[in-house]
Amino acid sequence: MQGMIFTEFLKMVDIFYSPEVTERIIKQSNTETNGAYTSVGNYSHSELVSMVVALSEEDETPVQDLVRAFGKFLLGQFCEQYPGYFLAHNDIFSFLDHIGNHVHTEVMKLYPDSRPPMIETTRLGLDIMELLYSSHRELGDAAHGLIEGALEYFETEATIQRNQLIEGEKTCIRFLITRTSTQLN
Ligand code: HEM
Repeated sequence: MQGMIFTEFLKMVDIFYSPEVTERIIKQSNTETNGAYTSVGNYSHSELVSMVVALSEEDETPVQDLVRAFGKFLLGQFCEQYPGYFLAHNDIFSFLDHIGNHVHTEVMKLYPDSRPPMIETTRLGLDIMELLYSSHRELGDAAHGLIEGALEYFETEATIQRNQLIEGEKTCIRFLITRTSTQLN
């Protein structure tokens, strides 16, 4: 997985916890890189999982909650680093419609060794969207957090229902996003 995901994760731990906690979880997770990630490198996503597990033990917080919080944090970082992907859209559904067939496609062109997840959206009504996440990694909680971060960015309130469709070699999750209110500027 792209190094930027790792550097952003460590940045989150620095900010939400402390640089000492970051050091400790790097040591405890016994990664090959010892936490020395570069944003353009590519690393095994199991290193990220080990660090999240170490943080979960340190903080006594479930792994799922931490991965979801990371997804939300990551959306904020994407927003700073790739403002164009956000400014092009007036609403969350339009933004989400462009992740799979535009944003992640661009990511693959820029970084040929990356393998972003499949994100497929379908409008089921004016205020209802189905979003399918499918990946060889089990990072559905990160997707959940990314959606929550996007709702916050677009000042939209919504409920998110989630169903696990497949488990095992591939993870496939169906998110049903129902908009309840939008802040109009
Ligand atoms: C401007 C917005 C976004 C950018 C620039 C972006 C970019 C990326 C990049 C660079 C990766 C690493 C891929 C790899 O190394 O193989 C990634 C992974 C991921 N992306 Fe996106 N993404 C964006 C929005 C989203 C949104 C809104 C979602 C969810 C609906 C999402 C879901 C994920 C997940 C869950 C991963 C982790 C890898 C996996 O599960 O297989 N992304 N994204």
